[in-house]
Amino acid sequence: MNRKKRIAAILLTAALGLIFSACGDASSESAGVPSGASAVESGQAESFSVPAASTGSEPAAGGSTLVVYFSCTGNTKAAAQTIAKAANGTIYEITPAQPYTDADLNYNDEKSRTTIEQNDPSARPEISGSVENWEKYDTVFIGYPIWWGTAPRILDTFVESYDFTGKTMIPFCTSSASGIGSSGADLKKLADGKGTWLDGRRLTADVSGADISSWLTELGIG
Ligand SMILES: Cc1cc2nc3c(=O)[nH]c(=O)nc-3n(C[C@H](O)[C@H](O)[C@H](O)COP(=O)(O)O)c2cc1C
Repeated sequence: MNRKKRIAAILLTAALGLIFSACGDASSESAGVPSGASAVESGQAESFSVPAASTGSEPAAGGSTLVVYFSCTGNTKAAAQTIAKAANGTIYEITPAQPYTDADLNYNDEKSRTTIEQNDPSARPEISGSVENWEKYDTVFIGYPIWWGTAPRILDTFVESYDFTGKTMIPFCTSSASGIGSSGADLKKLADGKGTWLDGRRLTADVSGADISSWLTELGIG
C-alpha cells in the first residue's frame, strides 16, 4: 500500500471504528437482520410475487423487475427484499464461489481478503451460479454494501458478466456511514456504458416498504 493509500486507510479505519464496532454484526443497522449466509440458495431466484409465507424456493413468477444483491452480513439483503416485495420483482443473490469469512471482512487488517481485493482494481472474485432468464428483465436493481468507499469487487465481476443493453439499472447500497458516491457510475463504466443507469441510493436495512414505494413512484416504476 503506498503512503497516500495507507493514510487514507488509517483515516477510514478510525472513522469506521467509531461508527461500527464489528462488521460481522448485522445489528449495526437493523436489529433482527440475519447475519451470515443468506437463505437464498446459490444461483436460485426467489420470487416475491408469491405469498409472504413462501419459502422463497419457487421459480420466478412473471414480472420484469430483478433485484440483484450482494450481502455478507444481511443489511443489503434486507433492503433488497423490501425492494423486491414493493416492486413485485424477482430477487437474485450474488453468491461468491468462495464465501467471505469474518476474517475476510476485517477492515482493520490490511492483509485481509477484502482489503487486498478492494486495493486491487483488477480483482474479480468468482461468482457461483448465474441469473436465469436474464433477457426477460427490463429493470434491474443492483445492491451491495459499501466497502472502502465503493462497491465490492465481486460487483465488478457481475457487471462484466452480463449484457445490460436495453435495461434500466438502479444501484443501491447499504453502509455504516458512507454515501453511494460514484460506485454506481463506476459499475456503469465496467458495463461498457450499456443500459440506462439511474442515480443510485443509499438505503438502510430497515428501510420501510412505504419509503421504497415512494422511490419507485419517483422512478416511474409500479
Ligand atoms: C471490508 C469492509 C469495508 C467497509 N467499508 C465501509 C466504508 O468505506 N464506509 C462505510 O460507511 N461502511 C463500510 N463498511 C460497512 C458496510 O458497508 C456495512 O456494514 C454494510 O451495511 C454491510 O452490508 P451487508 O450486511 O449487506 O454485507 C465496510 C464493511 C466491510 C466489511
